Order: sequence, then C-alpha cells, then structure tokens
Amino acid sequence: MNDRPADVPAGCPAHATPPAPELFTWEFATDPYPAYAWLREHSPVHRTTLPSGVEAWLVTRYADAREALADNRLSKNPAHHAESAHAKGKTGIPGERKAELMTHLLNIDPPDHTRLRRLVSKAFTPRRIAEFAPRVQELTDRLIDGFIEKGEADLIHEFAFPLPIYAICDLLGVPREDQDDFREWAGMMIRHGGGPRGGVARSVKKMRGYLLELIHRKRENPGDDLISGLIRASDHGEHLTENEAAAMAFIILFAGFETTVNLIGNSVHTLLGHPEQRAQLQRSLAAGETELLATGVEELLRHDGPVELATWRYATEALTIGGERIGAGDPVLVVLAAADRDPERFEGPDTLDLARRDNQHLGYGHGIHYCLGAPLARLEGQAALATLLKRLPDLRLAGESSDLRWRGGLIMRGLRTLPVEFTPG
Ligand code: HEM
Repeated sequence: MNDRPADVPAGCPAHATPPAPELFTWEFATDPYPAYAWLREHSPVHRTTLPSGVEAWLVTRYADAREALADNRLSKNPAHHAESAHAKGKTGIPGERKAELMTHLLNIDPPDHTRLRRLVSKAFTPRRIAEFAPRVQELTDRLIDGFIEKGEADLIHEFAFPLPIYAICDLLGVPREDQDDFREWAGMMIRHGGGPRGGVARSVKKMRGYLLELIHRKRENPGDDLISGLIRASDHGEHLTENEAAAMAFIILFAGFETTVNLIGNSVHTLLGHPEQRAQLQRSLAAGETELLATGVEELLRHDGPVELATWRYATEALTIGGERIGAGDPVLVVLAAADRDPERFEGPDTLDLARRDNQHLGYGHGIHYCLGAPLARLEGQAALATLLKRLPDLRLAGESSDLRWRGGLIMRGLRTLPVEFTPG
C-alpha cells in the first residue's frame, strides 16, 4: 500500500507519501486522473468505501486490470457479493428477479454466459453492423440538420443522446413511431443513473412490457432486424426464451446507449481542448482519409473514455490481485480509466495522440465480457465525429470548459451538457 523504503522513518518529508486523494468528490468527478495516478503508484489495489457505503477494491494498474478482467474467479453474479448475500440472508438472486431484465450478459457467468453470448453473436454480426453504416450516417446528418441553422446547440441533448437511441432502436427493429417512447424511458434512466427511484423502475417496467410484446409480434411476423435474428438464433437446438430475448434487447440498449452518448460527448470535449490535433484530424478528413479518424477514436477512448470503471465483479474465493489479499465475496471494480493511463503500458499516457499505434486500451473491457457492441460503437463514434467536424468546421465551446458539469456516476464518465457554438449552416 505504501512504497516508502523500509529504512526511511515515517514522516521523513523527502520520502513521505503524499496524502491519499479524496475519491468521489465533485473535483474527482471533474478530473479523476490525478487521483488515479496517485492510486496506481501508492495503492494500486485499493480498498475504499463507495458513496453508497459499500466497501470495494479498486484495481488501477493496467497489468492487474487486464488480468482481473479475464479472471474466472471474479464472478459477475451479484449473488456472490458477501454483503448482499449476508444482508438478504440468502445466496441466490431472488427468484422473482430471475425472470426480469436483470439476468443479462453482464450479470452472469459461464456456462450461462457462454450460451447466451454465442446465441447473440449469431444475430449481432459484423456484417449486420457494416450494413447499418448508411443508416447511422443518415441519422447523424438528420440530427445535425435539426440544429445547424441556430449556430448553437447542446451537443449532449440534441446530438449525442438521441443518436444511439435511434440507432439501437432501428437495429433492434423498434418501429419508428415508437422510438420516442424509448427516448423518454432511456432519458429517465440516464438522468437518475439507474437508481431505485420510482421513475426509473416505471421506465424499466414499461420498456420490458414493450420489448416482450415486440418479441411476440416478431415471432409471428419476423423481419430482417436484430430482434428477429435473436428469436431465430439457435445453437445445438437451443433458442433464447422470450424473457432471455427481452433481457438481451434491454442490455444491448442499456450498454450501448449511455456509453455512446459519453463517447461522443467526451471525444468532442477532448478535441476542442486540443486544437492542433483537431485541426490535423480536420485536414485528414478533408483529404478523404479515414485512418486518423479510426486511430483517433481509439485514442479518445483510451484518453478519456465513457466507461470509467468496468461493471461489478465479486471474488468467489479468497485471491490475490497485485499482491493484495481479496476476501471471498468482496466486490472488485476494475478502473479502466486508470489502467488506460498507466505509464508502464502507454508512452506519454496523459498525452492525446490521435495517431497512436500501440493502443491496446481496455476501454471496451477484456476477456469474455469484452464489449459486444464495439463495432457499432466505432461506427457511431467515427460517423459522429467526422460529420460534426466536416459540417461544423469552426465548432467551439460556448463558455469555459471548467464550467462544464460531469455526471458523477460510479461506472460511467460523461458530461451533463456540452454547449457549443458555430457558424450557422
Ligand atoms: C460490455 C464499453 C458501446 C453492448 C462492455 C464492457 C465495456 C464496454 C467496458 C465490459 C464491461 C465489463 O467487463 O464489466 C463500451 C464502450 C462503448 C460501448 C466504451 C461505446 C463507446 C456498446 C454498444 C453496445 C454495447 C453500442 C450495443 C449496441 C455491450 C454488451 C456488453 C458490453 C451487450 C456485455 C457483454 C458481455 O457481458 O458479454 N462494453 N461499450 N456496448 N457492451 Fe459495450
């Protein structure tokens, strides 16, 4: 926990470890990177009390993070959480919850995870995503058309937020006339961070009801969409049940929505703060090149990505990570944002380098839960940035970067609003 050499007396000013930073404050939400640098150096596997009061371990070094993400002794099933099992007096997920939307890829382990991931991969194919590119471009242009004449916009609400909602609804096969309902339900979830408030619970319930009905209709009358693909997918004679298909559609929407909002928001924010790199990207796009755009989106993900911490994992047995003893049932949170700035892995980790080549970042996770939607996220991220920079060439922040407010949830990192100005088109 402390790297003071054994022969140096405590309190020696030359060698004293600077005091531990305060986590989860407003300053931390705005810029967590100095605190993560401290943790990586002085307490790389760090036990902390989360704002919810739950105790958890934060894993901040790249090598430990990558290993932890692939460690099958770390379960995704919340039933393994010592505190929750103790508090509920039982070890399993309550039966009534099993049928609902929460039994999804990010909450289960093999062999269930292997089976569901194999089935969804048959429907969520790279080909389906590649064929979807023209539709993403059309959506991107339509949203920009909606504000380009004003000369100002809030890029989060008018662009980054609706783009992934409409894209995923289209992909799933939600009819256009119903997509604004999804926008409203998803808006409720993002505003209240998925907490146990009435509005969120009602939105989840409505979405579940809608998805089950849609699955039922698609079974009768299949189309070329992802939900029909999920219903059709079979593996060794096994199919998804209707509840599993609804949970799958829900996690695709849930995992693919706020992440993409933040990818667009954080990336635009970063580019506006790095005018030289942004100009270089604009020149490359104007010349019809796509390479810098592709490496650039990966670098923006590494430098200030949308997922700050990977989702919850629980030790199924006592184990060691980076020399720290983790108890059975302890929650382990892998801090992707800290790992992706580890100087042991990345040269000049705090520097944005859109052309960075050696860039095996952990922004999409690693191991069996590696992001299913990475090809769609890349497609949306690249289309959004390229189109914004081409159509709004003098895009600039309206106000000061220091006035921007970050959402401050535990897992995701993203802006509440991103007010911009530009010459009206
Ligand atoms: C899993 C990041 C977009 C669907 C993950 C994980 C990360 C991640 C870090 C692993 C979490 C963990 O291991 O705890 C991102 C980022 C995105 C993005 C940074 C955008 C920039 C999307 C999109 C979709 C999607 C667009 C779908 C449309 C999923 C699903 C999983 C997942 C279903 C769970 C996979 C599994 O457990 O097998 N994502 N994601 N993601 N992502 Fe994404």
